[in-house]
Order: sequence, then C-alpha cells, then structure tokens
Amino acid sequence: MTTRVLTGITTSGTPHLGNYAGAIRPSIQASQLPDVDAFYFMADYHALIKCDDPQRVARSRLEIAATWLAAGLDPEKVTFYRQSDIPEIPELCWMLNCVTGKGLMNRAHAYKAAVDQNTAKGAEPDDGVSMGLFSYPVLMAADILMFNAHKVPVGRDQIQHLEMARDIAQRFNHLYGQGSDFFVLPEVQIAEEVATLPGLDGRKMSKSYDNTIPLFEGGAKATRAAVMRIVTDSRQPGEPKDAEGSHLFTLYRAFATPEESAAFRQALEDGLGWGDAKNQLFERIEQELGAMRERYAELIADPARIEDILQAGAEKARRSATPLMQRLREAVGIRSLSLQASAKTPASSGKASGKTARFVSFRDESGFRFRFLAADGQQLFLSNAFGNPREGGDAQKRLLAGVVDVRPEGQDTLQLLLDGQPIAVIDAANWPLIQDALADLRAQQG
Ligand code: TRP
Repeated sequence: MTTRVLTGITTSGTPHLGNYAGAIRPSIQASQLPDVDAFYFMADYHALIKCDDPQRVARSRLEIAATWLAAGLDPEKVTFYRQSDIPEIPELCWMLNCVTGKGLMNRAHAYKAAVDQNTAKGAEPDDGVSMGLFSYPVLMAADILMFNAHKVPVGRDQIQHLEMARDIAQRFNHLYGQGSDFFVLPEVQIAEEVATLPGLDGRKMSKSYDNTIPLFEGGAKATRAAVMRIVTDSRQPGEPKDAEGSHLFTLYRAFATPEESAAFRQALEDGLGWGDAKNQLFERIEQELGAMRERYAELIADPARIEDILQAGAEKARRSATPLMQRLREAVGIRSLSLQASAKTPASSGKASGKTARFVSFRDESGFRFRFLAADGQQLFLSNAFGNPREGGDAQKRLLAGVVDVRPEGQDTLQLLLDGQPIAVIDAANWPLIQDALADLRAQQG
C-alpha cells in the first residue's frame, strides 16, 4: 500500500539552514522512497496569521518554492502546490470549524501562550489574538484531511495540532460518515535524528532568536559569514576541544557521513583551532549546497517557471480535492436542488442540443457492461462486468435513483458503489461530471 505523506511550510520568511536540514531535506528524501505518495505545499494562508506584510508573504512564497525545487523536489513525483491555489481547503476549513469545539481550540499551545503573555503584562487575555490565530489548528486540519494524509512529518511543536486534526476528523466522520469514514486519521511523524539544528548561539536555529545561518539567499558569502560567527568557547588552537559539547560539531554532523564526523571529532580533540573548524564546516556545507545554490539562482530569476510548476501541482491536487469536497458538501446537505425528488424541473430537461447523457450497454468476453456517456459523448465511466443484462439494467436504474456513493480507490480513482457494492472504478476527476450528468438525466426523465 502507498503511504500518503503530507507537510507544509508557512510562507512568512526566508528558509535557513535549519529549515533545510530539519524539514526540506528529509521530506525530499522521503518522497523518493517507493510506496510514498508525497504532498508538499506552501501554507500561504497560514502566513497571513502571523504576517501582515504583503511584500514579505509574496517574496517568501517565491523563495520557499524555489528552495524546495533547488533542493531536489521532483514535481513530477511529488504533488507540490500552494494552499491558496486549492479553494477546497478554506471551504473544508469552514465545515471543520462547524464541528470543532471552541473548548478544544482554547487548549491550543500557541493560543494559550498568547493569553499567558497578555496576562503576565496585565493586558486583556485575548489582546492581539485574531480569529486566524485562534483557529489556526482548524486550517491545518483542513490541509491534512483534504488529502487524507496518513503521515505528517513536522517539528515537535506541531504534535498537538495533529492530535487536534485527528479529533476533528473523528468528529466529522462520526457526525456525517454514516458508517463509512470520510477522513483518514493522520499520524504525526517526528524525525528524531534531524530534530532541530542549533543556531549560531547554540539555541534552536530560529528566526525569532536571530541566530540563523542563511541557506541560499545572500549566496555562499552570507552562509560563510554566518558560519564564522558561530559561538565557540575560548580554547586556543592546539588545546583539545570538547566536540560533543560544541554545537559547531552538531552542525557538522548534520551534513557529514559518520566517518567524516568521527574524523572531525578526533581533529577537534587533537586541538584543531576553531577558525579552521569553521572553515571545514563551511566547506562541508557547500559540498552539499553548492550545486543547489546555482539552481536556486536560476529559479529565482524565472518566477514564471515556478508559477507554471505550481499551477500544474494545484491541478493535480485538485483532482482528488474536488471530488472529495463534492462528497462532503453532499454529506452535510449542501447539494444540488435538482437531486431532490420534490424539485423536478421539466422545463430544464433537454439541453438546447437535444442531447443528454446516456447509458450504452454491450457485451464483451467478461460479461455484460455499460458505458456512461456525457451529453457530448465523452465516456464518464465503464462499468464492471455483470452476470446478465438484467443486473446491468438494474444498476443503471439505481444510479438514476441516486443511491450511488463513492470511496477512494487509488491515487486518482474512486470506487463507484451501489448499496456498498462496487460497480465501476472511476477517474476521481469525473465524479462531479458523473453526478451532474445523472442529475440531468433524472431531470429529463422527469
Ligand atoms: N503549522 C505548520 C508549521 O508552522 C505548517 C503547516 C501548515 C503544516 N499546515 C500544515 C504542516 C499541514 C503540516 C501539515 O510548521
């Protein structure tokens, strides 16, 4: 079975070495494994929660997209897109908002931290807290549930958000699923060995500590200058250094093979000077980043190319988002009025062309089948084989009666079900067309 792995990066800043080693590099490696179906995206709606500078959001979307691509993400293999290009995500977010307890959100760490800070300085508890910040975890749940991700690789600080996504998914399944679940319960994936990279001062590398090492922006010069500013102890060249206790060594290890790390550690213990150690660290980082840097520069210089890649990615992502959203709308009661028995519209029957959707029955070596064709003659699906023509005809009647249902089958396919029995495998993208065509046919037959 393939595992769907999904993760997003908020587009509110410039990626640094910590983002690369902690998130981008392991995600790209994971996407190359067999049986992994990776969905990686830019969480640009999330960016609006913490950043109201349009220039910065726009620039960050470009930089983060270029970084993923330069670092080796293959958009043919990975579904690579922007959150804001998938209108089904905010739509699902609203539905999820409506089943999420406010009490659950009150417990979110980010919100509680804001309230604690306000309380500490004597301000109103919710001072400066937007609804975006408050319901941040619901949007994140929508990101994940929209694509039924099995595994979500994130940093430790996101574990609670995944628990909330599971809670929300369960609640929705329970309320509307009628026994068949809409949403997979996603699992959090924490990569222990990459966890977090230390910054210049040894604390977690983070923009908020102003201790980051730039990745591509500013070129090799900027990376080098930052490496030279890594804080070390005052031991002189020739004095033995404590490699394990030094974050410079931790940084080196994140880019080197175990053998190289062992040699580096030995050199430090034998008295390698910090200046030389920094040079070696920089060289080792550049060995990995050098070629990517060039690709990054080319990509950044050609935003139209990135835009094309992302548009194609959005199209790919929507091939499953659109039919799922269609089912969810149906499930909550937001559905076409013409599907309701009491609302027949004879006047609308028979399009101007006079053509409507139709079934075409035929027989082949495996049995009796039928095709369902749209008004323009396009094949919407081909049925499985039935034992006799009566069963095929009966299935057509029941399709028209509206008892049809779908469930995910493959990556871009759905099982079409009648009373839980599969009768065809359909292209997920065709599901809305099939529903429309059935509705037309019903209206026509009055
Ligand atoms: N909240 C995540 C972060 O700040 C980014 C994110 C948004 C995300 N939506 C997601 C991560 C969905 C994983 C899955 O790191």
